[in-house]
Amino acid sequence: MKEQNIYPSFPVDCKSLVSKYLKKEIFEELKELKTKNGFTLEKAIASGVQNFDSGIGVYAGDLESYTIFASLFDPIIEDYHQFKKDDKHKSNLNAEDLKASNPDIEGKYIVSTRIRVGRNFAKYPLGPAISKEQRENIEKEASSALNSLDGKLRGKYYPLEGMSEEISKQLIQDHFLFKAGDRFLEAAGLNRNWPSGRGIYHNEEKTFLVWVNEEDQLRIISMQSGGDIKEVFTRLTKAISKIEEKVEFLYDNHLGYITSCPTNLGTAMRASVHIKLPNLGANMKKFEEITQKYHLQIRGIDGEHSQSIGGVYDISNKRRLGVTEVQCVQDMYDGVVELIKEEKKLE
Ligand code: ADP
Ligand code: ARG
Repeated sequence: MKEQNIYPSFPVDCKSLVSKYLKKEIFEELKELKTKNGFTLEKAIASGVQNFDSGIGVYAGDLESYTIFASLFDPIIEDYHQFKKDDKHKSNLNAEDLKASNPDIEGKYIVSTRIRVGRNFAKYPLGPAISKEQRENIEKEASSALNSLDGKLRGKYYPLEGMSEEISKQLIQDHFLFKAGDRFLEAAGLNRNWPSGRGIYHNEEKTFLVWVNEEDQLRIISMQSGGDIKEVFTRLTKAISKIEEKVEFLYDNHLGYITSCPTNLGTAMRASVHIKLPNLGANMKKFEEITQKYHLQIRGIDGEHSQSIGGVYDISNKRRLGVTEVQCVQDMYDGVVELIKEEKKLE
């Protein structure tokens, strides 16, 4: 029989936030609790317990998870976002407020720009706690809302089920589609019934895309080649407001847009560029000094947990909660301007 509700042990060199904040007394206080959707502490911490190299290691099954398990989630949220229990989140999706003229008109450094937000339906639990039927209903409701978009956002929904391996491989390689089999999501219960209910919507040009039922129920994405960050943000904000006419998203005055992973709370926004910085790449100290100053994160070019190839990096905002969407993009923009300046000095 499976042993349940035993305080998990983490190796001494484990750096995840769940290992840092899941003290024995917190575990004892929370271990018997359950949200209305049946989500438990055991499920919330499963990803960090099974993956000691997690940065965070927890996922929420619903909005209630964030309150019922607050004595674990609150310190994790405060640590990651520097956002305190009594702080309030603010949203600003007005693209006019962004000051970002193309920092690389010649196209020497910035390969492409992408901005995404995560969104979840107000009327369903989050991915780690939904049933197969609920997931399929979300897919139906999402694809019908998306299929009503017109103009430059007009496109088509492609379910993962039945998609040829060749097409999905190409879409992943071209940075348009999510990968299958992520072990962090697997342990969080986010890959259950794969590939049922998952898919991608995109317009003809693939500048506007929506992932359905991956880590969040929707990932709304605007992307294009080059460094016109403002154009990418403007397209995204228009798309979000159109989709919001049809779907009500889960939002909380304290935590902003609610997502399954606490790193995405608030704006749920990741604004990134793929940028060529071979010289800074060979001088990580300087590189990290700048990324820290502008609250940026460095990823490899095949997304999270991937490596840089050929001196190209994925640079994005790290802060998402307690700052507005405009500020998230502004963080990325200001940092990128400085990174290009330093790269030029090192050439
Ligand atoms: P997310 O952005 O949703 O947090 P990932 O980091 O895994 O998830 O990235 C998803 C995909 O988006 C990956 O294929 C990644 O290479 C691609 N991507 C991210 N930023 C850019 C960008 N600026 N230009 C092109 N592709 C990008
Ligand atoms: N759960 C993983 C970890 O703790 C990913 C966290 C952030 N990324 C994400 N895709 N939510 O390292």
